[in-house]
Amino acid sequence: MKMPRPLEAPDRLRVSVVGTGYLGTTHAVSMAQLGHDVVAMDIEQEKIAMLSECELPFFEPGLAELLRKCVEVGRLRFTSSYDDVSEADIHFVCVGTPQLHGSFNADLRLVETAFTELARRVTRPTIIVGKSTVPAGTALRMADAVRDLAGGGQVEVAWNPEFLREGHAVEDALQPDRLIFGVKSPRAERLLRAVYRPIIEGGCPVMVTDYATAELVKVSANTFLAMKISFINAMAQICEATGAAVLPLAEALGYDDRIGRRFLSPGLGFGGGCLPKDVRALYACATDLGLDDVATFIRQIDVINLSRRDRALTLGRELLGGSYARKRVCVLGAAFKPNTDDVRDSPALAVAVAAHREGAQVVMHDPVAMNSARRIHPEIEYADTVVTAAREVDLVMLLTDWTDFEEMDPALLSGVVRSRNVLDGRNVLTPERWRSAGWTYRA
Ligand code: UDX
Repeated sequence: MKMPRPLEAPDRLRVSVVGTGYLGTTHAVSMAQLGHDVVAMDIEQEKIAMLSECELPFFEPGLAELLRKCVEVGRLRFTSSYDDVSEADIHFVCVGTPQLHGSFNADLRLVETAFTELARRVTRPTIIVGKSTVPAGTALRMADAVRDLAGGGQVEVAWNPEFLREGHAVEDALQPDRLIFGVKSPRAERLLRAVYRPIIEGGCPVMVTDYATAELVKVSANTFLAMKISFINAMAQICEATGAAVLPLAEALGYDDRIGRRFLSPGLGFGGGCLPKDVRALYACATDLGLDDVATFIRQIDVINLSRRDRALTLGRELLGGSYARKRVCVLGAAFKPNTDDVRDSPALAVAVAAHREGAQVVMHDPVAMNSARRIHPEIEYADTVVTAAREVDLVMLLTDWTDFEEMDPALLSGVVRSRNVLDGRNVLTPERWRSAGWTYRA
């Protein structure tokens, strides 16, 4: 990818980034890469210690190299104290907004704390920009809170949602499709344009909106993507029942520019830290607003998605002759998608755990996500290679579409498994190849 040209001395700003998860770390590195003087803050000391040593607390292709470069040239440093970020010209809040336990709403406590802690400390006119994904109305609430705490109207709030995908975070942060500035004043817009100048000069479209629109762009974009996936998965069920083939159907639909082929890959459905929680948060928002038909429509996206996990379990059970009890099952994939070690709401892990609960001895392999999976599911067995994971198993389940798995040689596995049963949960294997090697193939 072509990197935007970094800003020179008079145009560089002092930038603070609060929260060093996927979003915050990537944003901090990108800001430093654009030439700004960046300090990134997190209350988790362990994360800060790792980042200060130029080590990423998660897997993200290409990010570690840029992190090292920015730290070495002195444009990026890390701290665990809010006091160290108070002098910045512009603050970005990038903390997590996970799903609240026992509710469909997002948990906003970290966002509220970040805004109030910053507002208490800033000593000169500045803006605090929210990047975290939040329900509509949050920015306005934060603006009120900040005004009360900082006094004198010298601190403004803006909302600037982030659309980065795990596995493509660097590219998405430095070459975004669009920049959305939810602002209340020309001053905030000017400052945001200044901070993103190299990206804007590279041709990235900018949209200036009110707070609520900026907040909604993010959840509605993610809900739309989720809807495409659930749509093709609903069609997959119709295809199964009618004898039609869903992959050519998706391809045929994709030729229509208005539809497009992307996010129409049928299979085990979506997971991760964003799509599931954003669909649920939008559902909660529609319910709170009394928009029952809208809420029902959004709810079904989640319902269809979760039903894919049950369907995969059923297909696996059928391949095993009716029960998982005392069967040995190889699960390929733990991450919610390829090129990440993130297992949050991972469909692959959910199916593996369910098979284990039904009595199977599950052996899992993933190229990078095994440590993340082991931390939360130590009851599952983990194997370092596909071949060791498949040794003496009754069923192989491919549940995350890593390229390594797509290219697997059925002949190689034939010699190690106990029974040649394969469930392709992502529709990425070539069925004829597996069938001709003597495997019973289901997808
Ligand atoms: C998503 C959005 O794409 C990104 O813009 C936003 O900022 C954060 O949320 P991410 O969570 O990294 O990014 O994952 P994404 O690449 O969108 O995939 C989400 C899930 O959908 C994965 O579990 C993936 O396996 C699944 N998926 C995707 C399908 O099941 N079928 C498809 O056709 C595409």
